[in-house]
Amino acid sequence: MNLILLGPPGAGKGTQAKRLQDRFGIAQISTGDMLRAEVAAGSPIGREAKAVMAAGHLVSDDIIIRMLGHRIAQPDCAKGFILDGFPRTVPQAVALDVLLAERHLKLDAVIELKVDDAALVERIAGRFTCAACGAGYHETFQPPHVPGVCDKCGSQSFTHRPDDNRETVKARLDAYHRQTAPILPHYAAQGVLRSVDGMAAIDDVTRQIDAALGVLPPA
Ligand code: AP5
Ligand code: MG
Repeated sequence: MNLILLGPPGAGKGTQAKRLQDRFGIAQISTGDMLRAEVAAGSPIGREAKAVMAAGHLVSDDIIIRMLGHRIAQPDCAKGFILDGFPRTVPQAVALDVLLAERHLKLDAVIELKVDDAALVERIAGRFTCAACGAGYHETFQPPHVPGVCDKCGSQSFTHRPDDNRETVKARLDAYHRQTAPILPHYAAQGVLRSVDGMAAIDDVTRQIDAALGVLPPA
């Protein structure tokens, strides 16, 4: 199964992609996580992307498309993948069509998570991540079961993303509306676009995605 999760910053792409990965055994491919790993490694891509990400702008299509092309050729993608944060521009969507056609792959669904801009700021402000295993949390909406201890690995060390501040969130939202939302008609025309209410609680959104994928009947 090959899926795209589409939505603005904080919409829940990473949260839902991890659940899909666990349930279907398909690879989560987050271009944001890949870029953060490049930044942490101080690689040439990381050095180029660091300031662009900190400002909330999009990294160049060339870099991202090359990175994604290598990633979907990895063995863990053999059963399928969930693209989280890609494509984000019309040229990226067109390049993905070519990459998939070359590999005789098709998209099963593009899931759009619809969330109001005001809610996104609250979600992003309360987000934190386990520094050891990368599990994602929210102070209010998804706290660890034992405060200060990661549910998945037991680590007591957490991080906040450097681009999770109010000014950068505004720029990221602006980039979404100007550069990413225009790809929705591309997938509507292919008949694969499914929109879900991303304002609902996390478990509810998971159920809506299952229904959209035909795993569950619609509520
Ligand atoms: P990226 O890492 O993709 O960030 P983003 O798109 O801004 O999205 P986020 O990761 O912030 O949000 P999310 O939708 O994953 O939400 P989450 O599940 O964490 O990209 C970062 C940067 O990298 C970009 O700005 C750009 O510079 C660059 N980049 C990446 N890809 C690129 C590309 N293709 N082209 C060019 N540049 C690229 O949820 C957020 C919080 O809310 C969490 O705390 C969670 O617990 C909580 N939450 C989740 N769902 C719910 C819910 N239903 N109700 C309540 N709380 C919820
Ligand atoms: Mg994410």
